[in-house]
Amino acid sequence: MNRNVLITGGAGYVGSLLAPQLLAAGYSVTVYDTMYFGCTHAPHPRLRVIEGDIRDTAALREALWGVDTVINLACISNDPSFELDEGLSTSINYDSFEPMVVVAKERGVRRFIYASSSSVYGVSDAPDVTEDHPLVPLTLYNKYKGMCEPLLFKHQSDDFTCVTIRPATLCGYAPRTRLDLSVNILTNHAVNSGKITVFGGSQLRPNLHVQDMCDLYQLLLELPVEKIAGQTFNCGFENKSIMDIAHIVHDVVRQEFPDRGEIEIVTTPTDDIRSYHINSDKITRVLGFKPKHGIEDAVRDLCRAFREGRLPNSMTDERYFNVRTLKSKQAA
Ligand SMILES: NC(=O)c1ccc[n+]([C@@H]2O[C@H](COP(=O)([O-])OP(=O)(O)OC[C@H]3O[C@@H](n4cnc5c(N)ncnc54)[C@H](O)[C@@H]3O)[C@@H](O)[C@H]2O)c1
Repeated sequence: MNRNVLITGGAGYVGSLLAPQLLAAGYSVTVYDTMYFGCTHAPHPRLRVIEGDIRDTAALREALWGVDTVINLACISNDPSFELDEGLSTSINYDSFEPMVVVAKERGVRRFIYASSSSVYGVSDAPDVTEDHPLVPLTLYNKYKGMCEPLLFKHQSDDFTCVTIRPATLCGYAPRTRLDLSVNILTNHAVNSGKITVFGGSQLRPNLHVQDMCDLYQLLLELPVEKIAGQTFNCGFENKSIMDIAHIVHDVVRQEFPDRGEIEIVTTPTDDIRSYHINSDKITRVLGFKPKHGIEDAVRDLCRAFREGRLPNSMTDERYFNVRTLKSKQAA
C-alpha cells in the first residue's frame, strides 16, 4: 500500500530532497515535472523521471499507471513568478488542478496529498491562526492555493483519501535550493555580501525546515486513512519576526565564518505588511507530527553548503531564484 508515489513538481526545491528520501525508504517514485529549474535527481532503479506538464492530462494519465499516491507540488510557486504571466500561472495553479485530481482518481490512485500554503490566510491580527481561520488571500497565488482545496475535497471518498497541508515558508538546503525564501535570502546575503537588508522587520513569518517538510510528506504516505481523510493541516515551526530571523542568521553566520568580519543589518521601510502567526497544534495533536529542525539548523546547513561549494555563484545564478529563471525562459 502506498509504495508507488508520483510527485508532481518533484524536481523543485522540496521534490529534490523528498524523492531521494522516499527512494531510500524503499518507495518507487515518479517525478513528473516541466523541469523549469532543471533536475538534480541521480538515476535510481526505482526512480522514473518524466518531463511532463500537469496541464497535459493525457501524458499525466500515462504517468499515473500503477501509482497509488500523488504528492502534488507542481506550481508557479511565489507571487512575483505568478505575476510574470498570470494567464499561464492560472492555468497551472488553478485550471489544471481539478482535472489532475479527477485523472488520478480514475487511474486508481488511492491517496492525494496537496501542498497548499499558510499564506492563504493573508494578514491576520489573530494571535494564533488555526485551520478554521477565514482565508483572506492578498494575491492571486494565495487565492488559487486556497481555491484548490475544496476542489480536492469534492473528490474525497472511501477509496480516494485527500489531504491538504498548509506549510509555512520553507528554509534550508536541498539539492535544488531556492534562495528566494526569507531565511535562505538572508543567509545568502550574510555569507556572500556581509550585509543583510531587512524590509520592515516586525512582520511575523512562520517557518519550516525543508527536511521537516519532507518528513511530513513521508509520514502522510504511512498514516492510516482515518487520520488524514478530508483533513487540512497547518505546518509551521517557528513563528518569528523578520528582524528576529535576521539576528539568528547574523549570529549563526558569524559563528560559521568567524574570519569574515562583521555582518551589517540594514533596515529599510516596506509596504509589504504581511504578518501572520500560524498555529500548528492540530498536526501534532492528530498526527503526532512535530518538526525537529529550526531556523538555526537551516542557516547552519546552508553555511555548510556554501563552504563546500554546493551553492556556486549564489548571488548571480538565476536557477536559485524562481522569478529570474522564469523571466529569462519567457524572454528566450
Ligand atoms: N517553498 C515554500 O516556502 C513553500 C511554502 C508553502 C507551500 N509551498 C508549496 O510547496 C510546493 C513545492 O514548493 P517548492 O518550493 O518546491 O517549489 P519549486 O518552485 O521549487 O518547485 C515547483 C516545481 O513545479 C514544477 N512545475 C511548475 N509548473 C509545472 C507544470 N505545469 N507541470 C509540472 N511541473 C511543473 C517546476 O518545474 C518546479 O520544479 C509548491 O506547490 C508550493 O506552492 C512551498
